[in-house]
Amino acid sequence: MKVIRMTVWVLLVASLLGFAGGYTILAGNKGAPEMTLNGGKSGPVPFPHLVHQTKFEDCNTCHELFPQEPGAIDALKASGELKKKQVMNKQCTKCHKKMKKDGQKTGPTTCKTCHAKNG
Ligand code: HEC
Ligand code: HEC
Ligand code: HEC
Repeated sequence: MKVIRMTVWVLLVASLLGFAGGYTILAGNKGAPEMTLNGGKSGPVPFPHLVHQTKFEDCNTCHELFPQEPGAIDALKASGELKKKQVMNKQCTKCHKKMKKDGQKTGPTTCKTCHAKNG
């Protein structure tokens, strides 16, 4: 009897740990919900990541240009694989302007509303 109870206990704990582990991995690979991007001399750019993930199910809407890693844009700009302002012009501003033109709710389209302080 004791052995059976012990076995049930061990299995229960193992399954709970397994579930928690899986959940951590699933939740962890979405990245930060809010982040601040390096906007060079025009100043930092606050970026609500989670808002965009909720709106666009396809991660590659953005991540086709850069991997899902912190600092990815800066690293690719440093190595020359991304041009300065490429993400800004080809993704952020391009999408916001198009949606605005189509009359849809979207994000900022002017320098000062994206860059926290203007230099
Ligand atoms: C609207 C654009 C956009 C979309 C859509 C998007 N991301 Fe990101 N993601 C970014 C940006 C910008 C960064 C920051 C990259 C950097 O630091 O240079 C980033 C960074 C990340 C990181 C790195 C960790 C971190 O906190 O910086 C992970 C992981 C990530 N994204 C996962 C995802 C997943 C999973 C999805 C889809 C569910 C997704 N992203 C959708 C723009 C986006
Ligand atoms: C929708 C948001 C958004 C708008 C609008 C915007 N920017 Fe940016 N900007 C960014 C992001 C994100 C980056 C960093 C990624 C990149 O370089 O593509 C950036 C980067 C920059 C950089 C640094 C480039 C480097 O690597 O040194 C400068 C300078 C800059 N922007 C100037 C401007 C000016 C000037 C305007 C207005 C004409 C403007 N931005 C409008 C989001 C924006
Ligand atoms: C594919 C289209 C798309 C791309 C790419 C995109 N955005 Fe947006 N953005 C949106 C939409 C749509 C909203 C409005 C979401 C909502 O409030 O429902 C938004 C909202 C925002 C907001 C305002 C959020 C708020 O709470 O009002 C900011 C700031 C922003 N985006 C910054 C950025 C930056 C910086 C980038 C580039 C790294 C970027 N976006 C890339 C579509 C896009």
